[in-house]
Amino acid sequence: MGVERVQEIANFSKETIPEEFIRTTYEQPALTTVQGTVLEVPVIDLSDPDEEKVVRAIVDASSNWGMFQVVNHGIPHETVRKLKEVGKAFFELQPHEKEAYAKSPGSESIEGYGTKLQREVEGKKAWVDHLFHKIWPPSEINYQFWPKNPPSYRKNNEEYAKHMHGVVDKLFRCLSLGLGLEGNEMKEAMGGDNMVYLLKINYYPQCPRPDLALGVPAHTDMSAITILVPNDVQGLQACKDDHWYDVEYIPNALIVHIGDQVEIVSNGKYKSVLHRAKVNKEKTRISWPVFVEPPSDLEVGPHPKLVNEANPPKFESKKYSQYCFCKLNKTPK
Ligand code: OGA
Ligand code: NI
Repeated sequence: MGVERVQEIANFSKETIPEEFIRTTYEQPALTTVQGTVLEVPVIDLSDPDEEKVVRAIVDASSNWGMFQVVNHGIPHETVRKLKEVGKAFFELQPHEKEAYAKSPGSESIEGYGTKLQREVEGKKAWVDHLFHKIWPPSEINYQFWPKNPPSYRKNNEEYAKHMHGVVDKLFRCLSLGLGLEGNEMKEAMGGDNMVYLLKINYYPQCPRPDLALGVPAHTDMSAITILVPNDVQGLQACKDDHWYDVEYIPNALIVHIGDQVEIVSNGKYKSVLHRAKVNKEKTRISWPVFVEPPSDLEVGPHPKLVNEANPPKFESKKYSQYCFCKLNKTPK
């Protein structure tokens, strides 16, 4: 044991933070965020009956930002509220109750409660603890990583997973049509109904120096797409044209990130968004991203219909597991 949880560090850090959490000036949010800007990540109404318009909006957002928010997405607000309620309750349990779900140090799997995923370049630490577990398909679920307390944790997470399919299908359909492909081809390229939904809960405790620390450093997601629900504490930032912008908190919206696999299949037309998360001085921030991923042994590469002599493939084809291994270990692509 002996892993220090940020939640515990936050309990005794009232004015300062340990040195390993202080970012270089290139990363400090107070120095690197565009102030007073009008530019914002696009907001798209998924219930609009004019599908062509929705496709155009999604193509635009995915090519220029790699991120957008969706409203009227069809997931009942009550389902999302209940997902958030039980995730927050888990992190408010006593440390020993959470440690029962700790990711074991030598394990290959990403699932479980933990404190650090990435090895960071500068050796800095992120101000966050997390819980990872798969929520779909049922055959991939390891219930040992699902909290038994609160008792409704399982039911509420299963309900959220069930309601996600509608949004996921709609997004892949629009992304596919936007490339001139058939409506089902993007989803098929990601494994169709074998796609895996990996839930992460990020728990960012209050931080006395939010100007110096980061909750999550700049990265792109390895997934196909990520669908994120935040609590009401703003903190997510997106990078566009080398500038960092705050992503506004919109009640009941879902935040969609284009991940690396969609960028690859689209042969670079859609951009996997560079993003990061800030922390807050007074409030605990929590977010629930679901990484929608290809099955690990599926080979993913630029869609054959999108490459030809004039448009050669910009990315190598790789098994998803291989892609993740290379990225996490920073071996050349
Ligand atoms: C992530 C992530 C952002 C957020 O966990 O990959 O980008 O808003 N989180 O918590
Ligand atoms: Ni991310």
